[in-house]
Amino acid sequence: MATHNLLLLPGDGIGPEVMAEVKRVIDFFNKTGPDRFTFEEGLVGGACYDAHKVSITDATMEKAKAADAVIFGSVGGPQWDKVPYDVRPEAGLLRLRKDLALYANLRPAVTYPALADASSLKRELVEGLDIMILRELTGGVYFGEPKTITDLGNGQKRAIDTQVYDTYEIERIGRVAFELARKRRNKVTSMEKRNVMKSGLLWNEVITALHAREFKDVTLEHQLADSGGMQLVRNPKQFDVIVTDNLFGDMLSDIAAMLTGSLGMLASASLGEVDPKTRKRKALYEPVHGSAPDIAGKGLANPIAMIASFGMALRYSFDMGKQADMIDAAIAATLDKGIRTGDIAAPGEKSVSTADMGSAILAEMEKLSA
Ligand code: IPM
Ligand code: MG
Repeated sequence: MATHNLLLLPGDGIGPEVMAEVKRVIDFFNKTGPDRFTFEEGLVGGACYDAHKVSITDATMEKAKAADAVIFGSVGGPQWDKVPYDVRPEAGLLRLRKDLALYANLRPAVTYPALADASSLKRELVEGLDIMILRELTGGVYFGEPKTITDLGNGQKRAIDTQVYDTYEIERIGRVAFELARKRRNKVTSMEKRNVMKSGLLWNEVITALHAREFKDVTLEHQLADSGGMQLVRNPKQFDVIVTDNLFGDMLSDIAAMLTGSLGMLASASLGEVDPKTRKRKALYEPVHGSAPDIAGKGLANPIAMIASFGMALRYSFDMGKQADMIDAAIAATLDKGIRTGDIAAPGEKSVSTADMGSAILAEMEKLSA
């Protein structure tokens, strides 16, 4: 029986509340198998800043590198708005992504049948939606240098962020996109702004060449990222896999999340390269939603994105696709019963607490595994 070692980083805001539900899911698998999980916990974000004056410690980074997977909650909150930029809560997450080289961020947007009416779009546009946003996660404007604010001395300042991509970075994310598409509906839409950005020009060129060389069997389309955003709300079902850079991927995945009814529904996986020796890859799993400070600590948060993120860990790190499918089926069955947290409840509809949602999903898992 395989044992997998996890590092849990609940973080700030609703992070600890939704992580508590993942711990119950871990307990479930430790009882039912087939694999066992052990875990350690660590501080990240504002919680870590309060204890150590940094947003993640070197010791926690070492644990993250040694773990079979990192399960991450959320970071940030208004109480840390004034902390130095280098140690702001988000810096902890960015360091994890960069130092673990988690360049491929998979953000599946799937509309559960029971939630088609919770979307801000018409039911017929989102019913049956199943798209994958693949976001490049370790390059682009998030990490490009220089990244500065300079005082020009005349009452003016100048801020610089740098958008930078090398061929290999575009190629490796492109390869993930085409390989994902082959297991889905075989279509990739690449999004950039080649009409105004050199990085967009190179992005387009590299993806086109990679497709011609290795992936001719996959349908490839290119869209400008602004128009792609428009298409995402006009006719989302035209897409299968969308591959795009770090910043566009950040924006487009929030848009895609709302198609599914709520940010509280969207899971994500951030993956690195497979190590040729161990056959393992570094990986971090996190919900796309943030720390939601307005509802933190009240037991109101939706744990579905966090639980589904753990499901992605089973699928992408531990070859437990069957168990991952079971988690997805348990979530769908819970929603079919009309059980809702506040974010996905219709106006006037009754809503349950974070823990009650977790219990309902676990009850369905018990049934499915019986
Ligand atoms: C996300 C978040 C992060 C990002 C923040 C918290 C730094 O918005 O994962 O989408 O911008 O990447
Ligand atoms: Mg974001």
